[in-house]
Amino acid sequence: MNWTQAVAELANGQIYKDESSRIGIKCPLWNWCVKPSFMRPTKSSTSNLGYFSDLRIPEGRKGKWRIAHSIEKQGTKLTVVSMRDALFQGKKSSSIPLDRDYLVHALLEDEQRWMSDCPQEIESQREQLKRFKGTVLVGGLGLGYAALTLDQNPNVKEVVVVERQQAVIDLVWSYLPLTKAVPIKADLFQYLKDIQGKRRFDYAYYDVWGPTGERVLITHVRPLRALSEGIVKQKNIECWEEATMLGQIHAHLRTLIETWDMPPPFGGIKEMPEGQFQKTARGSGTHWAFLNWMRQTKPSREEALRFMNHYVDTYSNLNKWGEVWDAWDAQETRR
Ligand SMILES: C[S@@+](CC[C@H](N)C(=O)[O-])C[C@H]1O[C@@H](n2cnc3c(N)ncnc32)[C@H](O)[C@@H]1O
Repeated sequence: MNWTQAVAELANGQIYKDESSRIGIKCPLWNWCVKPSFMRPTKSSTSNLGYFSDLRIPEGRKGKWRIAHSIEKQGTKLTVVSMRDALFQGKKSSSIPLDRDYLVHALLEDEQRWMSDCPQEIESQREQLKRFKGTVLVGGLGLGYAALTLDQNPNVKEVVVVERQQAVIDLVWSYLPLTKAVPIKADLFQYLKDIQGKRRFDYAYYDVWGPTGERVLITHVRPLRALSEGIVKQKNIECWEEATMLGQIHAHLRTLIETWDMPPPFGGIKEMPEGQFQKTARGSGTHWAFLNWMRQTKPSREEALRFMNHYVDTYSNLNKWGEVWDAWDAQETRR
């Protein structure tokens, strides 16, 4: 019996090989087991920058859900802030050269990636999670990076993680060294309806979507924020990549204002016959109310820019946004 078999037996686990033919041990005691060197947290300078996770979840499959490993080789440059986030959030794009091999986890459904712990994914969450304290609601377990980060925060007392897929809970939960977190198998939208008037949280973090297009504001962010009224304060809710989504509305409206007086194909919305406007512009969803307001009130460029800021700043919060923009809204952009 070699050392790997001995440890596996001791921990009542199984030996397995990952995609790179490296040997590991799959068992609930994973986090306390002897691991191959590439799976151990490193003290190197690169990892100390905080762009890497402490996750140690073995590969596994449950139905169409799968945890996959891959190794990023020393010397590879990995994105930390993408061009897209840089553009829409006003950040500086950046990447990091690896000073050793790194194990990257991915959560896949039907081979489509929901989450990975590559630096870009970590970076897109860690700033948002920093200010949390007290009782926290997390929507979407994924690989458990957010849940674990919050669990390790001494200012956080309790973490409730709502995940709708039992397979994801089974693949991930027992490998997270959590001390104050509980999983709840439920749909987040339904859970928020069910706890209305019964339970409150100090903070909430929602990440139950994959794309970061502005449409997600309509399908997920706004409805979840609306359902959270009375459960958690709006200013204490963080939604993954919300800033990137709002940045897209900002960029579109800005272009619209600057081209407002130009003839088609640049401008044209201003002079468009009402019937055509109703047909074409209603599909714009996130812009609709602003376009409607521009056409009807004919603001100056400066006034339009001022109102644009209010529109974007309040867009996620239906109550606040509605105070000004309900009058110009089309009902189909609401849910
Ligand atoms: C992008 S991952 C979350 C990643 C997570 N923030 C992390 O740190 O690993 C999204 C997760 O939300 C779950 N999910 C999707 N829609 C959901 C819903 N309506 N209610 C609860 N969970 C949902 C998915 O099954 C998936 O596990």
